[in-house]
Amino acid sequence: MIIRKSPAELEKMRKAGLLVYRILQRLRELVQPGVSTLDLEAEAERMMKDAGAKPAFKGYYVPAAGGRYPFVLCTSVNEEVVHGMPSAKRILKEGDIISIDTGVAVDGYFGDSAITVPVGQVSEEVKRLLAVTEESLELAISQMKAGNRLFDVCGAVERHVTQNGFSVVREFVGHGIGASLHEEPQVPNYVDRRNENPRLKEGMVLAIEPMVNAGRPETKVLGDRWTAVTCDGSYAAHFEHTVAVTSNGPWVLTRP
Ligand code: MF3
Ligand code: CO
Repeated sequence: MIIRKSPAELEKMRKAGLLVYRILQRLRELVQPGVSTLDLEAEAERMMKDAGAKPAFKGYYVPAAGGRYPFVLCTSVNEEVVHGMPSAKRILKEGDIISIDTGVAVDGYFGDSAITVPVGQVSEEVKRLLAVTEESLELAISQMKAGNRLFDVCGAVERHVTQNGFSVVREFVGHGIGASLHEEPQVPNYVDRRNENPRLKEGMVLAIEPMVNAGRPETKVLGDRWTAVTCDGSYAAHFEHTVAVTSNGPWVLTRP
């Protein structure tokens, strides 16, 4: 069942969304060679505490990993696709890319967003990977209109990514979001005809999160049971927004 949100609930999700936005903008400024992914975690955790918000990821139980996620951020560097864990030993260097993914709850309602940031100068091909992934998210957002269907959103990502010669990750998906971090429906970054294709209605909220590999689509999870990496070692990019369907069209809750 897809839970639709009232205008009052959307206002709470908006508060969460804007805090996530502020945190990601701050972390983007901090990213530079020499900074560790744990430095980013510390700043994010401090900002959540100061705002009186609850981290959405820390303590979140994921059955596939067999445990609770230990950090407020996922920091996935280069060939890491998602769920990379902050570490003092992971020092960013020129030419890296880092996906920073975070979520919070404010007044019981969640916001979830991710950006991928270059560290110093990166190659033209890596710039293109980041641009195409972010564009695919924008195209998906523009499909978040009442009367459209879920596959319009999923298909927008898939089409843009494949037309540009990159591949969409299939093992991880976006999701409905509201008073829980993960709600129905699943939001794959491709049209998955095994799933239903519900019509989008006012009050539906989706976390849309294209995960795109520069090379082959396959991923595997490392021995830590969390970090997902590309099988071929190619770089991966990840952008995410929490987006509501309203009578005025798409409302991106995780940006101003
Ligand atoms: N944005 C991801 C998601 O919504 C991050 C979740 S990490 C977890 O699935 F540890 F909380 F699972
Ligand atoms: Co998410």
